[in-house]
Amino acid sequence: MANAAVAQASELVTSPGGPRPAVDGEPAITCRNVSVRFFTDRRSVTALSGIDLDVHRGELLTLLGPSGCGKSTLLRVLNRMYDLYPGQRATGEVWMDDENIIAFSKRRVDKGPDGEVRSEDTVIVVANLDPHSTRESTVHLDMPALGLGYEDGIAAQDLLTGASWHWGEHVYVRLGPETEPVHIVAIRRF
Ligand SMILES: Nc1ncnc2c1ncn2[C@@H]1O[C@H](COP(=O)(O)OP(=O)(O)OP(=O)(O)O)[C@@H](O)[C@H]1O
Ligand SMILES: [Mg+2]
Repeated sequence: MANAAVAQASELVTSPGGPRPAVDGEPAITCRNVSVRFFTDRRSVTALSGIDLDVHRGELLTLLGPSGCGKSTLLRVLNRMYDLYPGQRATGEVWMDDENIIAFSKRRVDKGPDGEVRSEDTVIVVANLDPHSTRESTVHLDMPALGLGYEDGIAAQDLLTGASWHWGEHVYVRLGPETEPVHIVAIRRF
């Protein structure tokens, strides 16, 4: 089945030197010289060759191209699924903001018959998916989606610990097994 090249460890490096802290104005995802080849018994396929790519936070990126041009392969490089593919050899470097920190929100707005807002209920969950180590990152809140203006202050209360903070659009978090792995936070305009 596998030939010699298949057995080689992937040389694709993700976030060399550790996860990159999120910095305003810097790309959230960077690919440099990323190449992926697949080896089968009969042939080898170059799925990606020397890809350089910067994706900025909030940017909408569309990958367009004919079937087989490598769109799914690039996505599998970014989500690291390529690790699971037998018979691939990947090279290059990928940086991204710490992918172990995820954040999502749920918002309920109750409106009266005239459309006036009667009550708002917004909860933000920020979690560290790495069970082994503490991670720190900056979470960027989509203020309009949360019913807020960019300059609004946010009164945030952790529903698990009762801790409260004043947040803004950019929120520093430190989460991990020794501290707390997750914040479940109710927010309101401050
Ligand atoms: N596991 C694999 N083993 C061998 N070759 C593969 C494998 N996965 C992808 N390839 C090859 O790599 C190339 C890129 O495939 P990929 O699936 O990334 O294309 P795509 O742009 O997503 O295509 P589509 O539009 O059909 O989804 C193709 O030639 C494909 O045959
Ligand atoms: Mg595809």
